Amino acid sequence: IRVLSVASEMFPFVKTGGLGDVVGSLPVALRAEGVMVTTLLPGYPAVLDALEGPVRVAEFTPLPDVTVSLLDGHAAGHHLLVIDCPALFRRKGNPYLGPDGADWPDNGLRFATLSRVAATIAQGQVAACLPDLVLAHDWQAGLTAAYTHYDGLPAAPVVHTIHNIAFQGRFPAADLANFGLPPHAFAIDGVEYHGDIGFLKAGLHFATWITTVSPTYAREIQQPEWGMGLDGLLRARSDRLIGILNGIDTDDWNPATDPAVLFPYQVGDIRGRRPNKRAFQAEFGLPQDPDVFLLGLVSRLTGQKGVDILADIAPRILDDRTQLVVVGSGDAAMEQAFARLSRRYPDRLACHIGYSEQLGHRIQASVDGLLIPSRFEPCGLTQLCAARYGCVPIAARVGGLADTIIDANQAAMTSNVATGLLFSPTDGDTLVNAVRRGANLYRDRARWMALQRNAAHYDVSWGHKAHEYAQLFRRVLGRNDIAAN
Ligand code: ADP
Ligand code: GLC
Repeated sequence: IRVLSVASEMFPFVKTGGLGDVVGSLPVALRAEGVMVTTLLPGYPAVLDALEGPVRVAEFTPLPDVTVSLLDGHAAGHHLLVIDCPALFRRKGNPYLGPDGADWPDNGLRFATLSRVAATIAQGQVAACLPDLVLAHDWQAGLTAAYTHYDGLPAAPVVHTIHNIAFQGRFPAADLANFGLPPHAFAIDGVEYHGDIGFLKAGLHFATWITTVSPTYAREIQQPEWGMGLDGLLRARSDRLIGILNGIDTDDWNPATDPAVLFPYQVGDIRGRRPNKRAFQAEFGLPQDPDVFLLGLVSRLTGQKGVDILADIAPRILDDRTQLVVVGSGDAAMEQAFARLSRRYPDRLACHIGYSEQLGHRIQASVDGLLIPSRFEPCGLTQLCAARYGCVPIAARVGGLADTIIDANQAAMTSNVATGLLFSPTDGDTLVNAVRRGANLYRDRARWMALQRNAAHYDVSWGHKAHEYAQLFRRVLGRNDIAAN
């Protein structure tokens, strides 16, 4: 099966979060399932620089006033098609935000272009890439299925993956023609969404199938509390919606070979990881006490992640036996809140405000417990990385966190299957209680080590998840063949 994966970010070239990780690691896992993936990316400088032996395979005008050329090449072992369009994509830094921290004003046109090019490839008009199926990620690729629908030409079916329903891509109705959509597309059974053009809405409406990144999130987003306005549409399409968990690249995430890990250790070697805690405490200027319960957070600092709740209750959990290291960046107010806390509790809380791939890895090899107090979490990857590195996740029972962590309740502890701690609902008191519960377990060394070992042996790889994607693709294509006959 040949798949065109369409995305706005991809590790190791451009990444703002888990979307980039998944877009970068899923193709490798799918190869073992007989699925060959080509990834279509915008030509950001970092992508163009990484491209080896690029060949210009097409040049066209996907939208009025937008001319692009398509570069075919390889980078970091991936087959890529890159949209070279300097006017839209040759901008350094964050793929969505300008230097002032605000969305680029032409984001609608930029990602309509991405989707329009994807649709053209889906229609078999680019000889260099003739996909059987298109996998479109998040709102940035949302118009892909709308374009193939309104063109009415034979095209590969589109599977649309929701990584986060909070980001929907809404743009003014006045842009309809600029986006190359016909007037009648502006309808409730089209791209219209609350008076605007909704990219994600369009994707969910027109995709042949919809996937999201965990079974629990697939159920949650069909409910008004979590669907952010799209729950009705998803309920109507529930027979075409499936949740498939994310995995992580277990070569990138291997504490025995990870260059960010100062004292490498084998997966599951709990004693072997201990020197890392001491070194990490030293690196962050915290007292180097092995008996202190060392907590970590590595996250975008946004409301989704519940980090404001953590900042509020931090004074209640920090004491001379509990420390916290924060690695994150995002909302200015939340960044400042943690910076303030680190000044107020210099021996108990330390932070790195910023994005650091290295610290993102090192923290997992060093801290005892990883805090994930998300208000919602489609899948979450940090709990998977934590588990593999023998770090115990302490997380809100939402979305993929609920699906990938087995809470250390009495039954699970007795059967020795627990891999972390879960709490709900997401609020200050439940978070404080979970941390206290964690601290008590931590002081009972044998039980804590059992948790760490179970976590380390929990399967976080892509293995069977890639298999589920492959099965879905076969099902989609099978149905299509039947429809065509
Ligand atoms: P989301 O995609 O919602 O941000 P995920 O848990 O799926 O959440 O993925 C986040 C990814 O980004 C993980 O790989 C995590 O380690 C990484 N990450 C987030 N913030 C930082 C940071 N400040 N420094 C380094 N890595 C980070
Ligand atoms: C989104 C979600 C996160 C998920 C990631 C990859 O960014 O917020 O939960 O793990 O996408 O699917």
